[in-house]
Amino acid sequence: MVSPGRFDGKTALVLGVANKRSIAWAIAKRLADEGARLAFTFQGERIEKNVRDLAESVSSPLVAECDVRSDADLERVFGQVGEAFDGGLDLLVHSVAYAAAEDLEGRFTDTPRDRFWLALDISAYSLVACSRLAEPLMEARGGGSIVTMTYLGGERAVPHYNVMGVAKATLDASMRYLAWDLGQKNVRVNAISAGPVRTLAARSIAGFPTMEAIVEERSPLHRHVEADDVGAAAAFLLSDDARNVTGTILYVDSGFHAMGM
Ligand SMILES: NC(=O)c1ccc[n+]([C@@H]2O[C@H](COP(=O)([O-])OP(=O)(O)OC[C@H]3O[C@@H](n4cnc5c(N)ncnc54)[C@H](O)[C@@H]3O)[C@@H](O)[C@H]2O)c1
Repeated sequence: MVSPGRFDGKTALVLGVANKRSIAWAIAKRLADEGARLAFTFQGERIEKNVRDLAESVSSPLVAECDVRSDADLERVFGQVGEAFDGGLDLLVHSVAYAAAEDLEGRFTDTPRDRFWLALDISAYSLVACSRLAEPLMEARGGGSIVTMTYLGGERAVPHYNVMGVAKATLDASMRYLAWDLGQKNVRVNAISAGPVRTLAARSIAGFPTMEAIVEERSPLHRHVEADDVGAAAAFLLSDDARNVTGTILYVDSGFHAMGM
């Protein structure tokens, strides 16, 4: 059940909306429904209109282009966020990942150096850069909460997930170190490990339908995960209900991670 007004007076920056199926959008909708004011970033002209239309539907005061590989983009965006939200920020949603399509099929062993670092830069380092820039804005508000999106492929070998699994392992460890550093400022940092959700990014993983079918067959709950399930869990982690939860991974995967076979 949605608690009305859980985010009244709160401000959030959401990175990673590409379209209405994005996990970031499911989280954003939940935050907006419960009273938060939201700023969005998008990457690339191709998705700009989608993101602007979605942002408008929740009366967002700021939509900014941001490629997380660029420190200049990140610094500009966090400056704009500070201006839009009177020098403060309460919540940060990091829902960004990328690996070249050819590295999400075939053998992990064949990943070339440049594309290995590209996947880690976009999918893991970006959380570090965003958290560093969010820190003073959250400190100005007396604390904050950051949520990122991970996957079991960072803990176990999942065929085809390949370099993205290595990026998620780096993301998970970064999340824990950030939780330690930023805990001093009353900023919490957590991750959600989602089961397969049909999104744009998921479509580039070879064998994604097999991943879905296996979760349905072998997870304790025998059902698919929807983006809205992830939205609800993220809202919990971002809310004061989770005030003593940090440095952790919350699994929204129908229980699949608990199984050995
Ligand atoms: N869909 C799933 O099954 C699933 C499962 C577990 C975790 N996740 C994670 O959830 C997150 C969101 O993915 P999604 O499934 O909603 O797909 P999505 O394609 O909707 O979102 C991925 C986002 O990353 C953004 N992005 C890529 N490169 C970028 C860059 N250089 N700069 C800024 N943004 C960039 C894209 O624009 C897009 O908005 C990712 O971290 C993904 O790994 C997804």
